[in-house]
Amino acid sequence: MPGKGLEDVIAAQTSLSDIDGKMGRLFYVGYDIHDLAPNCSFEECIFLLHNLHLPSKAELDGLNEQLTGERQISPFIEDLMPVMARQASPMSMLRTTVSAMSAHDPDGWDNSSEADYRKAIRLIARIPTVIAFYDQLRNGREVVRPNSKLSHAANFLWMLTGEEPDAEDASVLDMCLVLHADHTMNASTFAARVCASTLSDIHSSIVAAIATLKGPLHGGANERVMEMLIEIQEPSRTEDYIKRRLASKDKIMGFGHRVYKTEDPRATHLRRMSEQMAQKRGDSRWYDISRKVEEVVMAEKGLYPNVDFFAASVYHYLNIPTDLFTPVFAASRVSGWSAHVREQHADNRLIRPESEYIGPRGRAWQPIEERG
Ligand code: COA
Repeated sequence: MPGKGLEDVIAAQTSLSDIDGKMGRLFYVGYDIHDLAPNCSFEECIFLLHNLHLPSKAELDGLNEQLTGERQISPFIEDLMPVMARQASPMSMLRTTVSAMSAHDPDGWDNSSEADYRKAIRLIARIPTVIAFYDQLRNGREVVRPNSKLSHAANFLWMLTGEEPDAEDASVLDMCLVLHADHTMNASTFAARVCASTLSDIHSSIVAAIATLKGPLHGGANERVMEMLIEIQEPSRTEDYIKRRLASKDKIMGFGHRVYKTEDPRATHLRRMSEQMAQKRGDSRWYDISRKVEEVVMAEKGLYPNVDFFAASVYHYLNIPTDLFTPVFAASRVSGWSAHVREQHADNRLIRPESEYIGPRGRAWQPIEERG
């Protein structure tokens, strides 16, 4: 019988990413995340995950052209955005909008690898647009149209803020996108692959993944981390706060991991970026509280921060609204999800595990009038 929560169960074979949980190592297609994070752009990372090798200059130029050419959303989705902005929370908006995007995709229900690739590029290119349009509209502002001269990360910040980011801010978001792009058989990737394994389409699989990422034990944790930092307010209040939460048996968001038994290598980069942005903004409060939380949680529980912990303060320093943190995570992870869907479709067998029945057996049927 496998561990509860499918712990240690190998659910699929993949060539996309690999984790060494004991050593705290993460690899995309054989490349160490410590090499990729400071060197690889998100666009190169998308190419790597979908083509299993780093792009040549010509290949990268080709991908950039495809991505920038696909940033505009269709009139159908544009018409949907004001309703979403009025009525839906950010992750519900994203789930619904991605589902709606399937209606007008030029590749229809074609599940071939080539069609899935084109659909993946459209999804990766357009998810930042819908997140930014949603935020502008809910704040009663004009939407900011995509700028094809900017990189994926810089354009995302441009559409969110209406200001062209400087190179440092753009590079920080770019690195965050690289760090969140793929992570073996995490819950949302598993959901995407289960859906794809029924030979359902890529949009449905990404909807399943977004729905799964939304929960606070997965991608939703980064928003809860920021809420916690704001509640704490001062580094000096951290110890009491954390001890109180732990005494009430609360989980501290952004800590612990099913696979890593040591520092999550993504947290190493995000911690450094949080410090860098704190210095740049001349506001070290969120970084200082984060460091103190890290110290107290380690002392009290021996737990390490995961990807969501320092991502929270980094996104905050980038002026991203807290309730968009999980959508930003999705904007990155869609690159990995879509690569997993293509990998699943390429060598498919229905994912259909067993369950262990623990309910009563042998019960006698009772007519309704005899039931107590
Ligand atoms: N705060 C406090 N205690 C924690 C904890 C946290 N963040 N994460 C794990 N623990 C404790 C559990 O309470 C449990 O203790 P117990 O054995 O005394 O009951 C033990 O560590 C094992 O935790 P468990 O929830 O069974 O581990 P898991 O592998 O099923 O879950 C996570 C992994 C990530 C879901 C879990 O660590 C968690 O809930 N973290 C907070 C949410 C989060 O940051 N999610 C983002 C993940 S990238």
